[in-house]
Amino acid sequence: MSLNTYYTLGRSGLRVSRLALGTMTFGTEWGWGSDRETNQQLFNTYVDAGGNFFDTADLYTNGTSEIWLGEFIKERNLRDRAVIATKFTFNADPGNPNAGGNGRKNILRAVEGSLKRLNTDYIDLYILHAWDRITPAEEMMRTLDDLVRSGKVRHIGLSDTPAWYAARSQTLAEWRGYEPVCALQLEYSLVERNIEKEFVSLGTELGMGIMVWSPLGSGLLSGKYKPSQDGSMGEGRLQAMKESKNPSFQKFSDRNWKIVAELEKVANELGRSMAQVSLNWTANQPGIGSVIIGATKLHQLEDNLQSLSFQIPNELMQRLEEVSRPNPQFPYFFFDSEIQGMVNGGATVGVKPVGYHPDVLVRRE
Ligand SMILES: NC(=O)c1ccc[n+]([C@@H]2O[C@H](COP(=O)([O-])OP(=O)(O)OC[C@H]3O[C@@H](n4cnc5c(N)ncnc54)[C@H](OP(=O)(O)O)[C@@H]3O)[C@@H](O)[C@H]2O)c1
Repeated sequence: MSLNTYYTLGRSGLRVSRLALGTMTFGTEWGWGSDRETNQQLFNTYVDAGGNFFDTADLYTNGTSEIWLGEFIKERNLRDRAVIATKFTFNADPGNPNAGGNGRKNILRAVEGSLKRLNTDYIDLYILHAWDRITPAEEMMRTLDDLVRSGKVRHIGLSDTPAWYAARSQTLAEWRGYEPVCALQLEYSLVERNIEKEFVSLGTELGMGIMVWSPLGSGLLSGKYKPSQDGSMGEGRLQAMKESKNPSFQKFSDRNWKIVAELEKVANELGRSMAQVSLNWTANQPGIGSVIIGATKLHQLEDNLQSLSFQIPNELMQRLEEVSRPNPQFPYFFFDSEIQGMVNGGATVGVKPVGYHPDVLVRRE
């Protein structure tokens, strides 16, 4: 499959592939990644398919992820073509609270480490990895703007923050002339749809493209874990991390097994793998700028790279939507139910479609 159709990310001029390559599994330090040779193959396969968008973070696999990504890019002389996204927030210096978080002191420390490990003099997209609950948006945004002005960073993004914090950050950027946020990096898949409540309209309204992480629910939606065995037979990250307290790894639930079962039926009807169908579903939802795919084996990546080369018919989309629909929640059910009739005095008022579909295409021949 060819990835050489590029879309602008959010309201920026940065052209990226719809499928980004995740590098959290570059290295075996965390117990569920893969070795250098395998990852070099994954990198080359992705690049040869036309992909240009790489996602890493300063502390992924204790720094190995950034180092290998930098080396692979250098070996193929791709720095100009590659769009590198990396992140700061997490702390690798026990006892030193300023070696983590989103304050100025940590951001300015972290960026130097990432530039060194990536062996580059600029980062294309520098992302706050997670909200630290403390640092004022003013300080974080001003610091990121300084980095853009200094030339060390081209664009900025936010990952795993509350919607209000992202909205406040973007509004500050608009009013103070800071570099705007062009990407929101968030978990999204058939088994994790909560971002639809706030983040899709937030990204659409304020020009931030959503970069999806864990689009296969850490492997659950690839079909290798069977409901009948309660996940115990599938080999992979979720099995390895079964005892972890990290909520991202706790995917074996009755609700999720129902989704996996319906996905399997839909995939069989389409003659496609479950991974392809779930990635296709995710990539085609409103507001989604790019889907970060992950793989520990070449055959997985080859499978996943086929995910955009077909369309899921409406009837099958509907079945996936119904089985995975999140529960109605206050106050959101006020916005899309008959309660709106009480607002409009019974008159029909057109609703602007929620969602952002990038409409600018850049093609490489
Ligand atoms: N901002 C954040 O907080 C955050 C958090 C998480 C991830 N991320 C980013 O998002 C990227 C992707 O996340 P993710 O790795 O969790 O994505 P994912 O697509 O949910 O899971 C990928 C994993 O599923 C398995 N898999 C993938 N394709 C498969 C296939 N076709 N058949 C069978 N198994 C398959 C592999 O693991 P096994 O072989 O071990 O089963 C692979 O490592 C990361 O690399 C990282 O860059 C960001």
